[in-house]
Amino acid sequence: MLSNQDSAGKRTSLHGHWSSRMAFILAVTGSAVGLGNIWKFPYIAGQNGGGAFVLVYLICVIVIGMPVMMSEILIGRRGRRNPIATMELLGKEEGSSGNWRWVGGMGVLAGILILSYYSVIAGWTLGYVVKSASGVFVGATAEAVSAEFSGFVGDWRVIGFCHTLFMSLAIFVVARGVERGLEQAVRFMVPALLILMLVLLGYSINSGSFGEGVAFMFTPDWSKLTWGSVLAALGQAFFTLSIGMGAIMAYGAYLPEETSITGASAAVVTADTSIAILAGLAIFPLVFANGLDPADGPGLVFQTLPLAFGQMAGGVFFSTIFFVLLSFAAWTSAIGLMEPAVAWVVEHYNKSRSAATVLIGGLIWVIGLASVLSFNVLAETKFLAGTLFDNVDYLTSNIMLPLGGLLITIFAGWVMCRNSTADELGSSGSLYKAWRLLARFIAPIGILFVLINAVT
Ligand code: TRP
Repeated sequence: MLSNQDSAGKRTSLHGHWSSRMAFILAVTGSAVGLGNIWKFPYIAGQNGGGAFVLVYLICVIVIGMPVMMSEILIGRRGRRNPIATMELLGKEEGSSGNWRWVGGMGVLAGILILSYYSVIAGWTLGYVVKSASGVFVGATAEAVSAEFSGFVGDWRVIGFCHTLFMSLAIFVVARGVERGLEQAVRFMVPALLILMLVLLGYSINSGSFGEGVAFMFTPDWSKLTWGSVLAALGQAFFTLSIGMGAIMAYGAYLPEETSITGASAAVVTADTSIAILAGLAIFPLVFANGLDPADGPGLVFQTLPLAFGQMAGGVFFSTIFFVLLSFAAWTSAIGLMEPAVAWVVEHYNKSRSAATVLIGGLIWVIGLASVLSFNVLAETKFLAGTLFDNVDYLTSNIMLPLGGLLITIFAGWVMCRNSTADELGSSGSLYKAWRLLARFIAPIGILFVLINAVT
């Protein structure tokens, strides 16, 4: 194990540190805001009946997501290593066991599995940049846009190429290290994405069935809520906030001492949730206005948004920019998904950062081929949750992330002593008490309760 202490004997990270508090917030926001908000949230909400799902998702974000995120950051900053080594070190330091490293291990694996299919969808957004720019969507009907989508994903060579392109971009940035490039990309991307979502929202207020869309999203129909959809809401909360797999822990390892963990977490959660809600508000009115099915699945945004852009003045321009931004958002998330695995290979096998990135990236690319084929050649090969893609998605979002979150809160709330966590969270006031109550009781019991009810 490489040593990592500064001259004063304080633990530091081997991979460098964020240049400022803002840089950290931007990086975590960049990892959180991605396909999860704009691609996944609307279609999962659609498949689970809308209103009641959205409400449960919001509750999960606040009472489970927030404490899990704070726990991850504080654990990461205290250990200052990759998630596996950090959990092992702190497990021993807090008088428990080095076996806590398996929680880090499950996170590394989850990151690899998530990115394997995430990259495929991110590849679609790259493909849609080109399609938008070519003008195929101008004045297109709902049927034409749907046919365009089916033809696109139906050809494994095309989406396989896009997947390869996207993974290459992700490998390129991760190989260069944490600070360079990333901060700049996020600083401009998140505000730009927000502005474009507002443009879309404006369009959908004027041209969509706005009332119907809002009603679908915010009128809870409790009869549609099953334990399965509660688990989907919990899984979506974990997925969209990038928590439960050590990514935020890895980012926390590069966080300067004095930054407020509570403040940073609140900022990220607010930004991420707002973008997801905006995406829903922009998309559902268009779904209803065009007679599309909200439960249509992963193709939902790739069919509704091009349709809307196709009817808008300046649509080619807006649509191209939108998919460029969404690709950027996916890119900054992909970096976070790879970081735990790469940091671990660098530290554990003493490899260079670029060698580790190519190794892990290559592995992810190969696993991703299963998802590429799930939309064409193997589209009819279904078991358990559906296609191969559906199964990887279900296993990671609905099982691995909540389980990771459960163990992380148990670790931060029960294994770590009060002094350690109070030291990192920087207070013993009411905010600290609230975090501790959530991390010790509410979050773990909530997660366990949902998992047990949904699986049995
Ligand atoms: N939050 C990302 C999104 O919404 C996806 C994601 C899940 C992620 N876990 C992550 C990103 C870990 C970075 C790190 O698109």
